[in-house]
Amino acid sequence: MDRKICLITGASSGIGESLAQLLIKDGWFVVGIARRTEKLEKIKEELGSNFLPITCDVGKSENIRNSSDFLKKQNIIPKLFFLNAGCGEIEGEFHTDIHRKTFETNYFGIINWIEEWLSHSNSTTFVAISSLVAVHATPHASGYCASKAALRSCFESLKIQYANSATKFITVMPGPVKTDMLKSKNLFKISER
Ligand SMILES: NC(=O)c1ccc[n+]([C@@H]2O[C@H](COP(=O)([O-])OP(=O)(O)OC[C@H]3O[C@@H](n4cnc5c(N)ncnc54)[C@H](OP(=O)(O)O)[C@@H]3O)[C@@H](O)[C@H]2O)c1
Repeated sequence: MDRKICLITGASSGIGESLAQLLIKDGWFVVGIARRTEKLEKIKEELGSNFLPITCDVGKSENIRNSSDFLKKQNIIPKLFFLNAGCGEIEGEFHTDIHRKTFETNYFGIINWIEEWLSHSNSTTFVAISSLVAVHATPHASGYCASKAALRSCFESLKIQYANSATKFITVMPGPVKTDMLKSKNLFKISER
């Protein structure tokens, strides 16, 4: 029987870390992606040998390529991609730089995984963590809201395109969840309307 392998981006805290714990309890092998190596190593101590930590900045396409090449060489082929890594900051003065930076992680940091893995198997499931703000935008967060809306749109299109295939595209749009992202003084304001 094939090993159940899931790759989770943003596995070093919050939603991604919790999902890693749940999947490992359910018998999965989890590849955990994030930038903070020490956090990932601590999680590995807790979760054991079914958790493989990989330090990778998803905002850098070459990091995603290198991580993917490493996994392919080891014949570690995820069937499920939980593309969850995300960032956001409250905007002061309007500046497109914030948009570019946010899109590098929240949009390209997700679709680059698809480019690396889509042709590798014909039965992969890609899950994107968008947000409720993709449909109900909040103030001072135009870059964050736009990145989550773009991601949702991209996955909707791919979902329809691959409707008759075993490759699946799923979008999750959480409301507020008490994680580091929401607890941070700035981002908490995103959930206030
Ligand atoms: N919390 C909410 O209310 C809420 C609501 C809707 C949607 N979401 C979405 O849910 C996802 C998870 O967020 P969370 O709430 O669990 O917050 P979190 O605890 O702050 O987790 C964010 C995760 O993303 C990783 N990450 C950020 N930038 C990265 C990068 N460039 N490369 C690799 N990893 C990166 C972080 O790891 P490192 O810092 O170690 O890299 C961390 O593991 C995000 O996409 C967020 O937008 C959250």
